[in-house]
Amino acid sequence: MWSEGDYRVTAASPIFEVEDASLAFGGNRALDSVSFNMVAGELLGLIGPNGSGKTTLLNAVGSIYPLSDGKISFERQRIDSLSMHEVTRAGIGRMFQAPRIFPHMTCMENLLAAGFAVREDAESREDLIHRGEELLTSLTIDRFRDTVAGSMSGGQRMLLQFARTLMLRPRLLLLDEPFGGVHPKLIEVMLERIRTLHEDGLTIIMVSHDLPTIMGLSQRIIALANGKLIADGTPAEVREDPVVIDAYLGG
Ligand SMILES: Nc1ncnc2c1ncn2[C@@H]1O[C@H](COP(=O)(O)OP(=O)(O)OP(=O)(O)O)[C@@H](O)[C@H]1O
Ligand SMILES: [Mg+2]
Repeated sequence: MWSEGDYRVTAASPIFEVEDASLAFGGNRALDSVSFNMVAGELLGLIGPNGSGKTTLLNAVGSIYPLSDGKISFERQRIDSLSMHEVTRAGIGRMFQAPRIFPHMTCMENLLAAGFAVREDAESREDLIHRGEELLTSLTIDRFRDTVAGSMSGGQRMLLQFARTLMLRPRLLLLDEPFGGVHPKLIEVMLERIRTLHEDGLTIIMVSHDLPTIMGLSQRIIALANGKLIADGTPAEVREDPVVIDAYLGG
């Protein structure tokens, strides 16, 4: 049975493949032939100016907006035309820029809803509650266990969304600006958790405009500008890349 820390994936690499992904909104090419691969256990930082296509790329994974061309595969399965629910079942956990939680439910009820969505046969409601409590504690929001989510601050809701996403036991975690509106102390808590998940072998894509944080955390960075992939390398390489400086870092 699965337990915290069982993120190591033994499947042969690559685990996540984006091949010539393109998507247009009218005449606006939000994604323009984007290609990259990830091996299991990588922590990839995704950067780029506002409107460069970062969220659109993550949205194509759950076919929120289907690709017009190209394909996206996870663990060798095409996922670009699956529904968000199917993508979740396939092992992908997604955190949205604006927290997606059930505001009228308590924190624990939110976690249970996620837990039941992917529950293994052997897992009881008590097992799920136990796991939910562990997650709330590790993210320092256990005192909100029975609090209605809608009454929490934006930052606390972001942490709840993080807990909810981890409840899904993802093998690939997609984080879209997870630190938006989060208090610096809570950002530290999230960072610690992300580092631990990475050490445990989870594959992670993280979008952030917080460059010092994302550069410090990621082993590899890709940059988008106008829907095109303009850089793919180590944080040091991408930071020094004249194309990235010109498009984003503002030489
Ligand atoms: N639902 C939509 N309908 C029309 N155009 C859209 C839609 N969603 C995104 N776009 C456009 O696609 C482009 C990419 O947007 P996207 O949200 O992916 O950028 P982003 O890199 O996530 O930006 P930010 O850093 O501001 O979150 C932008 O030009 C945006 O206006
Ligand atoms: Mg975005």
